[in-house]
Amino acid sequence: MVVYIKIKEEAMQNIKAFIFDLDGVLVDTAKYHYLAWKRLAEELNIEFSIQDNERLKGVSRMQSLDIILEIGNITLNRDTKIQLAQKKNIWYVEYISNLTPKDILPGVIGFLESTKANGIKVALGSASKNSMLILDKLNLTNYFDAIIDGTKVSKAKPNPEVFLKGAKALKVLPSQCIVFEDAEAGVEAAINGGMYCIGIGSKDILKKAHLVLSGFYDITFDKLKL
Ligand code: BG6
Ligand code: MG
Repeated sequence: MVVYIKIKEEAMQNIKAFIFDLDGVLVDTAKYHYLAWKRLAEELNIEFSIQDNERLKGVSRMQSLDIILEIGNITLNRDTKIQLAQKKNIWYVEYISNLTPKDILPGVIGFLESTKANGIKVALGSASKNSMLILDKLNLTNYFDAIIDGTKVSKAKPNPEVFLKGAKALKVLPSQCIVFEDAEAGVEAAINGGMYCIGIGSKDILKKAHLVLSGFYDITFDKLKL
């Protein structure tokens, strides 16, 4: 049985590009971000739960640290915060050091292949400064016509900067893009940028997305009803 994913017709007219978030959409690195932040929070004696972690998804490294410090009601100076963020990143990079293409989430490769075969342009829109390292480990770099990552933006999601830059690099209008996002902040960023957004994850969390899928599994471009 072929399952079609219904997308509002007016939204799908004229779609020319897909913009993918990285962490939690193409690869399950979200769990390593959580482990590294949890380790830092423990060192700071801050209780940090998996629910709290939802607030960190999609936002920049420094903002993530600010959220954790706010939870712990701790104020630190800028230099200390820079050191702590670096420490977290060293742990995070250690955790992801063994990533291989096997860690790409189910269905992602098939979806990317069918997307490209249908002439849709593809960009990355991620807050992560480790994006290039991760794409390289996963052998995914060549799928992307444009890569906008944390080194190229100054405003964190929910600001739409990362996606607008992606659209610009692909030479398409925001209204011609579909964004795939697993984070609340990312869904908001796509919507703030005037883009159609498909949430990847739970409907309970990604309430603002136009459509939510639990993952790509056996979804191909043709199954998005265009
Ligand atoms: C996003 C993650 O993709 O990248 C966030 O969802 C993370 O959790 C952010 O904080 C920044 O990542 P990095 O790798 O630059 O610390
Ligand atoms: Mg994400």
